[in-house]
Amino acid sequence: MDELFELLRFASISTDSGHKVDVQACADWLAARMAAAGLQSEVCPTGGHPVVIGRNEQEADRPTVLVYGHYDVQPVDPLELWESDPFDPVIRDGRIWARGSTDNKGQFFAHLCGIAETIEEDGKLPVNLIMLLEGEEEIGSPSLRPFLEAHRGELACDVIVVSDTGMVAPGVPTLGYGLRGITCCEFAIRGPARDLHSGVYGGAVANPGTAVARLVASLHDDNGRVAIDGFYDDVVALEDWEREMWRSVPGMSEEDILGVTGAPSLFGESGYTSAERLWARPTAEVNGIWGGYQGEGSKTVLPAESFAKLSFRLVPGQDPSDIMDKVQAHLEKHCPEGVTVEVERGHHGQAYRSDPHSAHGRAAQEALRKTFRADPVLIREGGSIPIIQDFKEVLGVDTLLLGLALPDCQIHSPNENFTVENFEGGIRLNRVLFEELAGI
Ligand code: BES
Ligand code: MN
Repeated sequence: MDELFELLRFASISTDSGHKVDVQACADWLAARMAAAGLQSEVCPTGGHPVVIGRNEQEADRPTVLVYGHYDVQPVDPLELWESDPFDPVIRDGRIWARGSTDNKGQFFAHLCGIAETIEEDGKLPVNLIMLLEGEEEIGSPSLRPFLEAHRGELACDVIVVSDTGMVAPGVPTLGYGLRGITCCEFAIRGPARDLHSGVYGGAVANPGTAVARLVASLHDDNGRVAIDGFYDDVVALEDWEREMWRSVPGMSEEDILGVTGAPSLFGESGYTSAERLWARPTAEVNGIWGGYQGEGSKTVLPAESFAKLSFRLVPGQDPSDIMDKVQAHLEKHCPEGVTVEVERGHHGQAYRSDPHSAHGRAAQEALRKTFRADPVLIREGGSIPIIQDFKEVLGVDTLLLGLALPDCQIHSPNENFTVENFEGGIRLNRVLFEELAGI
């Protein structure tokens, strides 16, 4: 716990260049911690933030397991909503409160603690281990795919293990076998050459504030479906056994989701349950929208510009750049008269899907069952970890998603927290999992 606290004190915010030294210091600390556990460790520079790698003695005739995690974190704003300092962890109500406690430091550090414990008690691990920790997951992993391509020989493995996803409810072990993909953009609406008096010109000159609202509203129809031409063309439909299995997954009822989100009611694409909407259907989301006067009181102005940031969650079959072509065409086609729209494309990553009933999947299920003394549920995830599909393409291997985040861990939000119970469960899980994988 003391060591996890040390790790959580690094403000390793990858998106903010002002925190570059904290990201580097965090990487150095991790390499030292791996070395102390008996691994050979290395901080590998990239074009962006470093990758940290640790390995044990690699022996022939046993499987190689790559454990992936990310030591970068999301920004902390709005800071005033935190009940304690995001980079000064504390334990309260059985939870560790800090930015990165769940996403992802606490989760991967549980594996590192498990590894250290096994080496200390047994002298060695039952598998060949490559532990790979990156510092750019929260900004779309721009350096990691080239890193994989450059080091594919040294990173060859049989399976990948990641704890960076969710557990559907406390005490319900969860194996993830899919992730949504993502593609992001922002767009600018430009109208008059400068902000205008809204009385002198309003009515004769188009208003960019109205235009951004109309464009954002044009993304969906009234049934919650995305209204972009061709958006659903390549969507692979969810399978009957998934629909059946997800009907009884704990933690996904209407009351559960209302409770954890605080929303007044649920809304989404008609014809699907919440689990289906979240895990197997694509979406269009507005991440931010702004323009015009935001200060106190009123200002009768017709703003010259307005903006929005969008992201689209994707499912298997959809290609991120094809979808972004369609988004761009939609925005240009629906741009109201009297203004112009300029689209800037952002990062993207593909969806991922694997077979939870493969030999590795069954080993993971068994490890979860033994560790948490309950039958695991099999889910896909609504969130994205774009590098997982890259692992599949570059290294040719599947990933076991062993989530330890609970729905109320508040990842990406103020007051992120990780339960002490799942931190300890993750440590136990690591040992059992490696034994199961060694026995395949
Ligand atoms: N750990 C999350 C992804 C996640 C969270 C998956 C919960 C499943 C359940 C990860 O750190 C994350 O936030 N990913 C980003 C990816 C993006 C920045 C490319 C996401 O999903 O928004
Ligand atoms: Mn995250």
